[in-house]
Amino acid sequence: MTDKILRGRLLTFHAEPQGPEDTDACTYIEDGALWIAGGRIRARGTYAEIAAAAPDLPVTDHRPHLMMAGFIDPHIHFPQVQVIASWGAQLLDWLNTYTFPEETRFADPDHSARMAGLFLDQLTAHGTTTAVAYCSVHATSAEALFAEAARRDMRIVAGKVMMDRNAPEGLRDTPQTGYDDSKALIDRWHGKGRALYAITPRFAITSSPQQLEMTGALVAEHPGCYLQTHLSENHDEIAFTESLYPAAPDYLGVYEHYGLLSPKALMGHCLHLSPREIGVMRETGARPVFCPTSNLFLGSGLFDEAGLRGAGLVNAIATDVGGGTSYSMLQTLAEGYKVLQLRGQRLHPLRAFHWITRGNAVALGLEDRIGTLEAGSEADIVVLDARATPTMALRMERAETLSEELFILQVMGDDRAVAQTYVAGVPRKSGTESMT
Ligand code: GUN
Ligand code: ZN
Repeated sequence: MTDKILRGRLLTFHAEPQGPEDTDACTYIEDGALWIAGGRIRARGTYAEIAAAAPDLPVTDHRPHLMMAGFIDPHIHFPQVQVIASWGAQLLDWLNTYTFPEETRFADPDHSARMAGLFLDQLTAHGTTTAVAYCSVHATSAEALFAEAARRDMRIVAGKVMMDRNAPEGLRDTPQTGYDDSKALIDRWHGKGRALYAITPRFAITSSPQQLEMTGALVAEHPGCYLQTHLSENHDEIAFTESLYPAAPDYLGVYEHYGLLSPKALMGHCLHLSPREIGVMRETGARPVFCPTSNLFLGSGLFDEAGLRGAGLVNAIATDVGGGTSYSMLQTLAEGYKVLQLRGQRLHPLRAFHWITRGNAVALGLEDRIGTLEAGSEADIVVLDARATPTMALRMERAETLSEELFILQVMGDDRAVAQTYVAGVPRKSGTESMT
């Protein structure tokens, strides 16, 4: 079984740090330990305490590395594993030139199954233990991803994309088939093991009014499911949306009209929102998702983190691979830091590491299950090595505090800094492909 003790330096958050020195928001234990039992954290404490409570369990000693809750990526595209790093276009051209043709390949169940394994391997290698993923329009792609995640006992939130216009043949459903396929996937996967379903209209441009109407019905019928879509990413996208929905007051007004907004709604990007849209986001509780590497790569814009947070919104942060350029939530923080610099805003390391763990869990309403190392949480854990590369090791010679170490990880870290990733208490960082 998975019962064991993990020993190492331990860091977990119980609140959002309010400033760079707000260590009250976290617990840090220099010689810490986690008692893992049945895929969950049974207890956490000092190594001496845990070893005394469970003297017969095997111990994996990760010192001097840092154990933290596994990272949560709340916006990523599974069928874009082979789209990442496609050259020279902004959003709409990028979708038409690279992304849509690639996504047609996921009609093939064998291709979907192979890619699902490789996709989850990438997440694990980068320390991500929960992802909220867009699949392709084909139910087969969602089926493959849910099945592979279940095989690994990995928490996954995912949905088949609904799109019935402004996309090539082979990548369009209809309002009825989009509804029926989504409903069948919800019945089959939502709440099964660690799987949760996200109802996924791709964005207003690729859904007809009839499709968004039926999406609203799905949302009303399944209040426990998430809703994920894109919002206000690019100026041409906004103008096209407004031409397709002339009666709507603005882009968000389209989704609002069809009843898609709630605290379960994850709205990718949110770069160019009007004051009215920000007000509606606050009233409905919908979550903006900041995707810094994607926003820079596609030249989309600079997320106003402080502005939206100040308006009372709960912001998430995500990779958005393959518009995003890295699976690493550490690299996502690094680029997020730079975006906020250009905005005159600051992302200090305590808040950064809170954000990609408990903060994203709070945005998903899952903080009682993932995102912390509290007793009772699911045993999704990342082990970080701030000396993983010679350059990092050299810089670490001059680091004196935990915050400095975290900032080095935040700026320079990637998959090389992930020494191990535990999913439901099982080490998965390497060898997952041959796993039985
Ligand atoms: N808007 C609609 N689809 C997509 C997508 O696949 N990626 C990004 N970044 N934006 C989108
Ligand atoms: Zn996206």
